[in-house]
Amino acid sequence: MEFNDKVVLITGAAGGIGKEAARLFHQQGAKLVLIDLNQEALEKTALELDLGDYMICVADVRSEESVESYVQAAIDKYNKIDVFFNNAGVEGKFGKLTETTAETFGTVLDVNVKGVFYGLKHVLKVMEKQNFGNIVNTSSVAGCNGSPGLGAYSASKHAVIGLTKTASVEVAGKGIRVNAICPAPVNTRMMEELDSIKSPDDPGKARRTYEQKIPLRRYAEPAEIAELVLFLCSDKSSYITGGVYEIDGGLTAT
Ligand SMILES: NC(=O)c1ccc[n+]([C@@H]2O[C@H](COP(=O)([O-])OP(=O)(O)OC[C@H]3O[C@@H](n4cnc5c(N)ncnc54)[C@H](O)[C@@H]3O)[C@@H](O)[C@H]2O)c1
Repeated sequence: MEFNDKVVLITGAAGGIGKEAARLFHQQGAKLVLIDLNQEALEKTALELDLGDYMICVADVRSEESVESYVQAAIDKYNKIDVFFNNAGVEGKFGKLTETTAETFGTVLDVNVKGVFYGLKHVLKVMEKQNFGNIVNTSSVAGCNGSPGLGAYSASKHAVIGLTKTASVEVAGKGIRVNAICPAPVNTRMMEELDSIKSPDDPGKARRTYEQKIPLRRYAEPAEIAELVLFLCSDKSSYITGGVYEIDGGLTAT
């Protein structure tokens, strides 16, 4: 029970990757604060995982006030934050940069960059007082390379890496570690949506085409991503900070 009595905050907890991370942290004894915009999905997630000690916070990570509220709620209930999985994100509308509206660009950056920034800002204030803590931010392979059709998303995920590296250096002296993960396609709503946009008549075709480019020839399962998050938040990775971890079936090695 590696995370026994540890308080773990997860944003995007009702989504594919967040939910699997919640499942694994729970199995390892953590107390969970599950944060998401979607209240219904959040309640369903908590029921399905049959959690013991937990709370849910309906919050929009685009709003700094909302982020301050979930951090305060966690402190009011548990009095500390051991782990923060800063994971909520959106893909935005698929289309070339020349077709991307300012509104789409702004929405993606609001969630994926400002949301991650507000989370870091307010969780780090708590962790700096505690002199401990562990953070994982969710970037993407789109944060390491260009991503045709997803320019705003790619820009936002590059920004997550900049925030991760900056934060890691700023707080290393306080015993706090901050890392980023960069998954390739994962079997969640996000890829289902993108595949059905790329190939409306046969989403499976878009998926098969993408899988052919991945050396391991398949999308990741969300639980595989969650395992890396747990490792990065555990004492087993005690010398790792400021790291950017591709978990991509070899995609970025090609
Ligand atoms: N699925 C993939 O292929 C893939 C690959 C690389 C990175 N990622 C990243 O992983 C993270 C999780 O994605 P996922 O695949 O689980 O997708 P998902 O759509 O299943 O989950 C995302 C969750 O974030 C929540 N969310 C969205 N906007 C929010 C907001 N403003 N405030 C609070 N919550 C909000 C959604 O309600 C949803 O529950 C994202 O940051 C995504 O960019 C996903």
